[in-house]
Amino acid sequence: MNSSIVLLPGDGIGPEIVEQARLVLLKVAERFGHTFDFSSHQIGGIAIDETGDPLPQPTIDACRNAAAILLGAVGGPKWDDPSAKTRPEAGLLKIRKELGLFANLRPIKLFDELADASPLRADIVKGTDILFFRELTGGIYFGESGTSGSGEEETAFQSMTYSVSEVKRIVRMAAQAARGRSNRLTSVDKANVLEPSRLWRRVAAEVMANEFADVQYDVVLVDSMAMHLINRPSEFDVVVTGNMFGDILTDEASMLPGSLGMLPSASLGDGGPGLYEPIHGSAPDIAGKSVANPLATILAAAMMLRHSLGLTEEAEAIEKAVAGVITDGLRTPDLARGDQSKSVSTEEMGAAVVAKLAS
Ligand code: NAD
Ligand code: IPM
Ligand code: MN
Repeated sequence: MNSSIVLLPGDGIGPEIVEQARLVLLKVAERFGHTFDFSSHQIGGIAIDETGDPLPQPTIDACRNAAAILLGAVGGPKWDDPSAKTRPEAGLLKIRKELGLFANLRPIKLFDELADASPLRADIVKGTDILFFRELTGGIYFGESGTSGSGEEETAFQSMTYSVSEVKRIVRMAAQAARGRSNRLTSVDKANVLEPSRLWRRVAAEVMANEFADVQYDVVLVDSMAMHLINRPSEFDVVVTGNMFGDILTDEASMLPGSLGMLPSASLGDGGPGLYEPIHGSAPDIAGKSVANPLATILAAAMMLRHSLGLTEEAEAIEKAVAGVITDGLRTPDLARGDQSKSVSTEEMGAAVVAKLAS
């Protein structure tokens, strides 16, 4: 079995949280008798600083040969100059595209004990268990872009494109997942305004009618979805949407389980290595302070074991350990909300998960 895991710690809190996930994976290896072969590579701002390129070729080569990739986050104010020739985020977009990772799975599941960590009322967030499928290698993120003119007439554009095949493959993957869950799929678009959304809506409806007539299917406009998500989150099961809508809706949805620091994601294509990462960014405001919540990255490591390494029992062990530390009352500051007096550090949280795995 290829058990080579590429770590891409990146920028900001990236290195802090990836290290905690690595320690958790080492514990899993020890407990279940596996060997994971880790190697660390550069991406993002740190890669720009050292090589001038946010995704150096050795990183691409290592990722291609890996069983799976675990990424922290990229970006930060140091590299935010709008006139810079490249940006950390370009490295992340490129690795997703290079590896054909068109499906980004973002589970939004509430740990019951965290209902009070949500800024929303506990009775509303109770029962939240949504699986987002965000299309990841198309749409406006990868559309043609450019600038022209000058002064008041200076203009910038970025186009949004979706093809039939791009819509079919993500809708099929989401509908398959719905069959294994509560058998409900919601497609989110902006078909009342955008041409690519009209194509999306038509193709999605065809796929659902022809191949998934057994799955309960509906469509919601994205602006309306932003509202429904915080009004009646427990009514959604699987949600499929385009690249930018999925980016925005899932950060919004992170407030249901209480913190962005709790949400993992898996980026998958047609075979090949998957890429696993928290949905949050490099959190420059808290980087280097040992206060970042490592649980999103630790849960991403669990998704990695399940989806890329076929280690279901091991993935469940990590998820159980995370649930255990939450039940024990451990809270990093983002989860502690009103009561910061008892909050724990990044390292303490990671160590508590490792300890649970040992017990
Ligand atoms: P962010 O997700 O980094 O942070 C938003 C807020 O959430 C901040 O207050 C931050 O402190 C908090 N937060 C995020 N993760 C946390 C964690 N694990 N524990 C506790 N609190 C956490 O978003 P931003 O500030 O808008 O972006 C910062 C940089 O990150 C930007 O350069 C952006 O492009 C980049 N970014 C990268 C990724 C990625 O690498 N996948 C994702 C999103 C943003
Ligand atoms: C994410 C991030 C990225 C995205 C950025 C950093 C390119 O926000 O992974 O959600 O927009 O996809
Ligand atoms: Mn995002």
